[in-house]
Amino acid sequence: MSGIKKSITELVGKTPLLELVNYEKQNDIDAEIVVKLEFFNPNQSVKDRIALSMIEDAEKKGLLKPGDTIVETTSGNTGIGVAAIAATKGYKFRVYIQDQVSEERFKVIKAFGGETIKFSDEPVVKKILDETGGDFVAAVKALKELLAKEKDVLFINQVANPANPKVHEETTGPEIWEDANGKVDIFVAAVGTGGTVSGAGAYLKSKNPNVKIVAVQPGPNSIPSEANPTPEEITGVHPFTGIPEERIPATFDKNIYDEAFAVETEQANETARAVAKSDGILIGTSSGAAIYAATQIARRPENKGKRIVAILADTGLRYLSTGLFE
Ligand SMILES: Cc1ncc(COP(=O)(O)O)c(C=O)c1O
Repeated sequence: MSGIKKSITELVGKTPLLELVNYEKQNDIDAEIVVKLEFFNPNQSVKDRIALSMIEDAEKKGLLKPGDTIVETTSGNTGIGVAAIAATKGYKFRVYIQDQVSEERFKVIKAFGGETIKFSDEPVVKKILDETGGDFVAAVKALKELLAKEKDVLFINQVANPANPKVHEETTGPEIWEDANGKVDIFVAAVGTGGTVSGAGAYLKSKNPNVKIVAVQPGPNSIPSEANPTPEEITGVHPFTGIPEERIPATFDKNIYDEAFAVETEQANETARAVAKSDGILIGTSSGAAIYAATQIARRPENKGKRIVAILADTGLRYLSTGLFE
């Protein structure tokens, strides 16, 4: 059989695990910190997995025909993943993006032929965000109603699409389990839609109910508040505790995690900078947050010698226009 692939869809997943050996040594960590490098996906993020699974699920259900427009709202990575797969499969793509997302993401989506619209440029969405103080789930609901009036448009909606957590249960979780030879003590993932932690977490728990699942969320200083309405946020990561139930995406299984771990943006950024220097991997802020959480957990005496597996969601190249590496 030839090793030549015919579509980027064949390149999604099967990302490697890497132990951060130098980082462990430099930080006197007596546990294994193993990271799953999702920037090995064809468009450099974990979201390539759900982009493919949501589109193929819609195809199977007869919800898409050639030339249709796929619509998504996203912090960027899902938009990039869906734009690329839409391009290769012959669909149009339109994305509504949060305003504070880095410039690279807009440019990449446009490169794939996608249309980009900022949340603040869509009056219906802007109104809801202003009224609710930035409620993303409410904004998505309003957008859904708006799109229902258009023809030949499919809102793929990662925050409510079961194909999101499902692909992590079918691929991300099993890949970790197999590459770690069934030795995983603690699993750490940052939460946006919650698809990664819910799906991969469910698989790992099904193999070993003692695997501890840690779900990472932004710390209080990294969430917009009255006192600080525009903090530097962890792109793609949202709080899931201390917020109204209706703001939690349907793709997040609230019963999956054993521990909720809060990380501030600066802690995440510092960690991303540290692993770039120690182990030569360039990662984004949410990945830094996952390693920061893994590090603190590794330091607990009861976790000596344990293996902690953390998801690194995307590449640092997507953050060069931000202050992350300055
Ligand atoms: C950079 C980044 N990290 C982490 C996540 C969280 O992944 P999930 O949506 O599967 O919870 C996202 C989601 O948008 C993301 O863009």
